[in-house]
Amino acid sequence: MKVTVVGAGAVGASCAEYIAIKNFASEVVLLDIKEGFAEGKAMDLMQTASLNGFDTKITGVTSDYSKTADSDICVITSGIPRKPGMTREELIGINAGIVKDVSSNLIKNSPDTIIIVVSNPMDTMTYLVHKSTGLPKHRIIGMGGALDSARFKYRLAEALEAPISDVDGMVIGGHSDTGMVPLTRLATRNSVPVTEFLTEDRLSQVMEDTKVGGATLTKLLGTSAWYAPGAAVSGLVQAIACDQKKMFPCSVLLEGEYGLNDICIGAPVILGRNGIEKIVEIELNDAEKAHMQESAEGVRKTNDLL
Ligand code: LAC
Repeated sequence: MKVTVVGAGAVGASCAEYIAIKNFASEVVLLDIKEGFAEGKAMDLMQTASLNGFDTKITGVTSDYSKTADSDICVITSGIPRKPGMTREELIGINAGIVKDVSSNLIKNSPDTIIIVVSNPMDTMTYLVHKSTGLPKHRIIGMGGALDSARFKYRLAEALEAPISDVDGMVIGGHSDTGMVPLTRLATRNSVPVTEFLTEDRLSQVMEDTKVGGATLTKLLGTSAWYAPGAAVSGLVQAIACDQKKMFPCSVLLEGEYGLNDICIGAPVILGRNGIEKIVEIELNDAEKAHMQESAEGVRKTNDLL
């Protein structure tokens, strides 16, 4: 199993690190445009192999896409991250051109690859990859929902004063401060709905904290977060590589599901060796449906900027 990660910044390097630590891939190629940077990150990571107990070979390359040839999975993290006060949508001008170039270079060298898009604005970048490459929809996956759901579970555990392993929950919709749809109605603590334990006000707070999860970190860190995004990507890559048939909310091209068409937005999918093996349609209540529609309008506005 060969995985390429484009962009050796904090997010890309964390992706490579978590993929390697989980020890399921034979090879990770880290590619960056900055001379020597990916090589340096790869060497540093390889020097953790004996300490962390993995055999995945990590190689760094500067812009040499021939070294990415025949990757089973390619992850695109390239582009600029947001600065405090910026929305993800504001990155579109610079990142769209980069993501288009990167995806075309990747496919030239790995025509059968599955692509995972991380660059922001993530739903629109996923749609762009879909439009510009013509790859079948099951091979283009946007990462957002997996990350947003992890942040949702963190906030739920905090509110419940419970360990995270007690908590389950999912965020669908767009990967934006306003577009996320945390499904509080369906979230549980050991199969008991969290609505049994938390007041409506506390749950609204959980929802709000989840939606601005990335912005909160950007303010604290001065740049976009990387550990949880990297871990989320590694979870998706592992589900595909190991044919786990695991369910994650991911940005996927919808064709009628959830009443939406011609848009990439977060919905639950089953991930296995073929990429997106199924889109799972769950019954939403009226408020959730309205929230999803509103979220889709936001994503479409950004898509229009393409
Ligand atoms: C975040 C970026 C990766 O939410 O979108 O941290």
